[in-house]
Amino acid sequence: MSGPRLGVCYYPEHWPREDWPPHASAMRQLGIEIVRIGEFSWSRLETSEGCFDWGWLDAALDILSAAGLKIVLCTPTACPPAWLILKSPDILPVAKSGVVRGFGSRRHYSFSSADYAGHCDRIVSAMLERYGGRDDIVGWQIDNEFGCHETTLSYDTSTLQRFRSWLGDHYQSIEGLNDAWGTVFWSQEYPGFDAIGFPQTAVTESNPAHSLAFRRFASDEVRRFCERQATRIRARCREDVWLTHNFMGNFTDFDHFDVGKTVDIASWDSYPLGFLQQAWFDETTKSRYRQTGHPDWAAFHHDLYRGVGRGRFGVMEQQPGPVNWADCNAMPVPGMVRLWSWEAIAHGAELVSYFRWQQLPKAQEQMHAALNLPDGAPAPVQQEIRQLADELATIPSSETEKASVALVFDYASCWMADIQPHAAGYSALRQAFSYYSAARSLGLDVDIVSPGADLADYRVVLVPALFTLDVARLRRFEDCDAEVLFGPRSGSRTTDFSIPHNLAPGCLQQAIAVKVLAVDAIRAGDEIAFSYAGEEFAASHWLESIESDLEPSAVTADGHGVYFEHDRFHYLGAVTCGTFLRRIVGELCGRAGVAVTSLNGDLRLRHRGEQVFVFNYGPDVARLPSEHGCLLLGTETLRRADVALWTNTDT
Ligand code: GAL
Repeated sequence: MSGPRLGVCYYPEHWPREDWPPHASAMRQLGIEIVRIGEFSWSRLETSEGCFDWGWLDAALDILSAAGLKIVLCTPTACPPAWLILKSPDILPVAKSGVVRGFGSRRHYSFSSADYAGHCDRIVSAMLERYGGRDDIVGWQIDNEFGCHETTLSYDTSTLQRFRSWLGDHYQSIEGLNDAWGTVFWSQEYPGFDAIGFPQTAVTESNPAHSLAFRRFASDEVRRFCERQATRIRARCREDVWLTHNFMGNFTDFDHFDVGKTVDIASWDSYPLGFLQQAWFDETTKSRYRQTGHPDWAAFHHDLYRGVGRGRFGVMEQQPGPVNWADCNAMPVPGMVRLWSWEAIAHGAELVSYFRWQQLPKAQEQMHAALNLPDGAPAPVQQEIRQLADELATIPSSETEKASVALVFDYASCWMADIQPHAAGYSALRQAFSYYSAARSLGLDVDIVSPGADLADYRVVLVPALFTLDVARLRRFEDCDAEVLFGPRSGSRTTDFSIPHNLAPGCLQQAIAVKVLAVDAIRAGDEIAFSYAGEEFAASHWLESIESDLEPSAVTADGHGVYFEHDRFHYLGAVTCGTFLRRIVGELCGRAGVAVTSLNGDLRLRHRGEQVFVFNYGPDVARLPSEHGCLLLGTETLRRADVALWTNTDT
């Protein structure tokens, strides 16, 4: 897929057949080119075991295709039908409480069930047999939103068996596991792998190494599940057909870099207003951006999923109006859906696909907006999409280039922080987001990369929360020329969740001589002031006591060093306010020769080749930065939800 293209999620099985042709032609008229279809349709495709009904899907595909639309066909494995559950109840996942999670919504399966894997093989193979050769299918989506509704971890029997065997492979001997986990503490020593259960029912906190192993194992199970379908699809489809999975926002329960390796393009589902309400933002922020989303939220995920997709990503589900699943479901301001779409494209999205074509008046998502109202009339948002389609037809596309700034994001660190937060409110994802936000408020483009990424061409590297640092990882930072900023908790744990023998930040001490002796966890809402270059800033949540021969650049009133620098390496031993992060990221850019643009709080920039996009997320009218090239979109002033685009070339 070269991009960018507009798409829509469509459920023909929800509508009478006579509606399909007018739906298809209305999609085309709107500028839609790609339709995603089928991800929840198992009960209609296989009505009882081995009994397939392809007629309706054949007809729907033919109608869409005749209208000139291309298809992303999904495997329907997120929704095993009732007959399958009645036959094989063992596939149901089990909650941490021990309660079986039952039929009646979706994602009711355990990733580890061999029985379920067999059923998935059958439906996927049958679909491939039927549709694998169709020319109008340009891509396949595997399943839908792995892990949604807290389904990455399951405490069922199949999972336990596979977990034990994973532990055996991983540790080789029970003595090795006992040693690595420190089970001599509280007489937890295991006589054999079969004696190990889930980190589930212990009287108090389970051993953190046990919990971490379970998280790693569960992430591997997601990859294995996805890979199994990917292998089948690849074996049957043309080479130019791409594979994807639609990942989620605000979600770290498995290693997306790892699962992303099994697909060709990473896609994700962008619901900026729902996420704003769900995430950690304070009430002022939630109110300010209630109808726009946080200015960095969608962008953060675009950059993350571009990394997960090794440079290729798209938005598979774009919020088109109020969602139904947040505590409070706001309406986007007029223009916002167009802004979100342009922003995705500016970050390199090859596809922006809206969720969904028509609002369904029945079932769980009856209050979820769509491009059409429940009665079939077009929703007002269609005007924005029409405008966007017209603009896309006239504005030349341009390549997204590698950024100067990289942010290293690590899923295992997110799990470690969940397992042992130590300070209420600390979150590794939140840390990553705050560093990202600081960089974005300086007009910088950021690539979000895995800990294993090649850092060679970056000039500034941000490492907000990389809990585990071994010599190989350290070498990547040493081998590049970038200014590197490490946040608190860096190198603070081994892969088996113990404190490194030389204390935190472990082997990072070879590059910058700081040693963490203790941590002061700061109550949520409280702050500790520190000074830097004569100005006052605030630390919250987490403040390390650091021993070092280096003179700290920032200190608290009682003399705690907060920020240390040595050569290209910078260590920040506290969670700090955004203003401090912005200040030091700006300074690192200055040292590295990376130009910054100081933006008002609500404006964001994104470069795409010679093109520069500007987005206004704020309620106030803003002016373009004074130096800009020839405008292709927008004007000198931007109202809320406005987009401007200029190019620095004459063409
Ligand atoms: C996504 C999901 C869709 C739909 C949507 C509603 O998480 O993939 O099927 O439920 O949310 O916002």
